[in-house]
Amino acid sequence: MSGEGGAGRVMTVHQPGAAPKVSQRGEDYFPIHPRTILPGTAGQFDLYLKRVDWFVLYAKKGETFSVEPKLKELLDVSEFYIRVDQRFDYETYLAKNLGNMLLNNQIPMEERSKLFYQISSGMLKQSFASKLPRGLDEKTYQAMQTLVKRGIALLSKEESLRSLSEFLSHKYHTYSHSLNVMVLTISVLQSVQGIDQTTLFEAGLGAALHDIGKTQIPDAVINKGGPLNQAEWEMMKTHPVRALGICASMPISHVATNAILFHHERFDGGGYPGGISGEGIPVYARVLALCDVYDALTSERPYAKALPPYKALTIMQEDMKGAFDPVLYKRLVYVLGNARIV
Ligand SMILES: [Fe+2]
Ligand SMILES: [Fe+2]
Repeated sequence: MSGEGGAGRVMTVHQPGAAPKVSQRGEDYFPIHPRTILPGTAGQFDLYLKRVDWFVLYAKKGETFSVEPKLKELLDVSEFYIRVDQRFDYETYLAKNLGNMLLNNQIPMEERSKLFYQISSGMLKQSFASKLPRGLDEKTYQAMQTLVKRGIALLSKEESLRSLSEFLSHKYHTYSHSLNVMVLTISVLQSVQGIDQTTLFEAGLGAALHDIGKTQIPDAVINKGGPLNQAEWEMMKTHPVRALGICASMPISHVATNAILFHHERFDGGGYPGGISGEGIPVYARVLALCDVYDALTSERPYAKALPPYKALTIMQEDMKGAFDPVLYKRLVYVLGNARIV
C-alpha cells in the first residue's frame, strides 16, 4: 500500500517488495534525523527507509508527513534517508521549519545545533559572498533577523553553547567569524544582568553584521598573508564605518548601529574609529569587542595559526592589557568555562 498524497493524508510505508527501489547504492542517499521530519508538513523531496541494504520509499515528494509512532517502532526507524539529488530541497524544508525544530526538546541538542549551524552558515556565506553591491537588501536583512532570533532561542537552552561549539568553524572566513561572534555575543550578553530582550536581539544583529563592511575591502587586503602596510591598514580600519553605509537602506536600530560602529573600540580608548573609552562604549559593544578578538585568535587566519582557547584568553589579558572591560572579560571566561570550552 502506498500514500497517495494530499494535505492532511496519513502516510503509510510502502511494503518491501512492492516498494519502488530507485537505487541500492548507499552513496546516492544521505541519512537524516527522523525528528527533523515534522508531522503535518510537506517537503519537496522523497523520504526513504533503509531495509537491510536497500532503500524503500516511505513518503513521496509533496505529500504531508505523518510519522506514526507505532509504525516507527515496528520498523525501528532510527534514520530516514533522502536522495543526494534532493539535498537542496531538504535544506529548503529545514530552513522553513528550523524555528520549530530548535524548540523541539525531542530532537537531541546536538542535532538542533548542527541544523542551526548548517543553515545559518549557509545563509551568511551566501550574503557575504554577494559583496552586497547595492547595500543590504530587504531579503538578506530579514534572513539575518531570523538567524538572530533562532540563535537566541537555541542559546537560551542549557548545554546549547557547548553543543554548538562543536560545529563552529575555526577556519577564518568573514561569514563563519560573523556567526561565531554572534553566538558568543548572545551567550555572554544573556549572562549579563539588566540586558533586555530587545537589546539582546539588536546586539545579536549587530554582531552578525559587525564585519559586513569588509565586503567592500579588496580580497587582497583581507586575505593578505603578512602584516598590512600603512595604506592597507588605514583602509581596513574603515570597515566599521563602511558597514553603516551598506546597512543604510534598512531600518537598522540604534543599538545594532552602535554595536557595529564600536566593535573595534578599546576600553582604554586606544581603538577606532572614535577612540572612545570605558563606559562611553555601550556594554553590548564591549561584549562584542571581546568576542570578536577571542574568535579571531582561536581561528586559523591567513597570517596566523588558530590558538587554543586558554592561550587566546591569556593573550587578551596580558598582551592586550587595557583593551577590554575586565568585568566583561571575566564574564566571557565564565561562559566559556560553563560550556566546557576552556
Ligand atoms: Fe571588525
Ligand atoms: Fe570581526
